[in-house]
Amino acid sequence: MKKWLYTILSFNIIFYSCSSSKISVGAGKEVNPYHYTITKNASVKNGCVASAHPLASEIGLAILKKGGNAFDAMIATQLALAVVYPAAGNIGGGGFTVARTQDDALIALDYRETAPLKGSRNMYIDSAGNARTDWSQNGHLSAGVPGTVAGLFAEHQYAKLPFKTLIQPAIDLAEKGFVLTSGEAASLNGNKDYFIKYNTKPTAFVKQTAWKEGDTLYQPELAATLKRIRNKGAKGFYEGETANLVVEEMQRGKGMLSLEDLKSYVCRRRKPVEFDYRDYHVVSMPPSSSGGIILGEMLKMIEPYPMSSYGFQTLKSVQLMIEAERRAYADRAAHLGDPDFWDVPQNILLSDAYLKKRMGDFDSTKAGISANIKAGNVHESDQTTHISIIDKDGNMVAVTTTLNNSYGSKTVVGGAGFLLNDEMDDFSIKPGVPNMYGAIGGDANAIQPGKRMLSSMTPTLVLKDNKPFMVVGTPGGTTITTSVFQSIVNIVDFNMDANDAVNKPKFHHQWLPDTVLIERDFNENTAKQLEGMGYKLVKLQAIGRTELIKILPDGTREAAADKRGDDSVSGY
Ligand code: DON
Repeated sequence: MKKWLYTILSFNIIFYSCSSSKISVGAGKEVNPYHYTITKNASVKNGCVASAHPLASEIGLAILKKGGNAFDAMIATQLALAVVYPAAGNIGGGGFTVARTQDDALIALDYRETAPLKGSRNMYIDSAGNARTDWSQNGHLSAGVPGTVAGLFAEHQYAKLPFKTLIQPAIDLAEKGFVLTSGEAASLNGNKDYFIKYNTKPTAFVKQTAWKEGDTLYQPELAATLKRIRNKGAKGFYEGETANLVVEEMQRGKGMLSLEDLKSYVCRRRKPVEFDYRDYHVVSMPPSSSGGIILGEMLKMIEPYPMSSYGFQTLKSVQLMIEAERRAYADRAAHLGDPDFWDVPQNILLSDAYLKKRMGDFDSTKAGISANIKAGNVHESDQTTHISIIDKDGNMVAVTTTLNNSYGSKTVVGGAGFLLNDEMDDFSIKPGVPNMYGAIGGDANAIQPGKRMLSSMTPTLVLKDNKPFMVVGTPGGTTITTSVFQSIVNIVDFNMDANDAVNKPKFHHQWLPDTVLIERDFNENTAKQLEGMGYKLVKLQAIGRTELIKILPDGTREAAADKRGDDSVSGY
């Protein structure tokens, strides 16, 4: 077996190869799962795909070239990620799609997981009154009812090619296998003990000896599940053999998902959140994600200030953005939840009057204190992966989808080969008890049967003069919305190209805990000045994995895949 790996700095390309057996997507288009290229940037005229894995991006591109539109490419890319990126790509999780068709129609699809019908507000509180994050974050009981497959079929209404064409590459990847990068091998090895602990049957992710770069991962049970979806549509997942396998797994592992939960799951169509930021129009995800509203609050709070003259990562621009983040996240904790269960005051939260007042106590000379900044009074006047695609006709699709943390609950449905999410932890399992991202909440995000847990996922589109300008999104838990916020400010205010907008160091504040997270390459001088003003800083290796496409005035699609992972762009 032949294998090599090298990097060409100027184009940021990593070439990965093993042998040469290909997967056909039809019409002469082929992708080689044993020989692929990680490409960080592309500048193309027609269509492009930016995703967390080069094979998934290549499959999306092959579908575009075969005559599919951005929705076709998105479905094929999502399904491929469910095979080649099991840490986050999924059919056992959920997500959101924000899209704009070439005829200007705006779409927001909510296929977030729901609490099982047998779920209840205090299901993660033990007899001693303790919140049990060990129950909400791993294993059978942490899983919400998966929404991804319903979402894929909702997306398909805007696609051109048959679903069976779009799912076949994923089936082939699961059946014929694909080679692991060093990062994927390390990730599987790092989770081996969890896979053993939280499963009742052997899984494809565990082998006796350690995984290493270049090994081939085969997932025959997942291939069989994908074939049932291909043959029977959404019913191939939500009913029949797959549903039975889920319920049998629940019985073996004391989980809650039932046949009724699966059969009754529906993808909800929402009205996208829309607002202007300077000369741009932003379209993003409404609840059950907090993303669009929180993004809108933050951008509108900084809009009155001359950000471009403040400059990138200066004390003035960063401090202002931190204070906007603090206030928006305080609102998230109190006011946002599943709109089918909670009256979300969206219009107020995004109104100029409310946001002006919200920044009324902003002090440019010192750090705000979260203990003194509560959620606004709205009665006066809630491991992930993101895919960005645009096609030659201007259809734009942004999808963020997740199992929650890496490999979700770590529980694979025995015989069905797919991982279940641990999304239940995104509910407020007890008032004041932080979820795994430190977010707290209360009534708005309390568990109720059939309710969607609050998310931070922020798939977002930006238009200029009513034309496509940007497709963006990222994983990262609560840091998602602040990453999208910074990518937009980087482009609109600091005039960056797609690559810099994605890869420049980022920061994050979420009200509580009252600390500022900074990436390790964050500007040192600004960091010192912030500390001098009273901010408590915590250094992190990396925040998010953003996939961004910027559309230039001449129509060129400038795409960037985040340097922080194996993320890769494909375009033509
Ligand atoms: O929906 C949410 O906000 C979280 N479950 C997202 C998790 C996530 O981004 C993990 N990736 N790093």
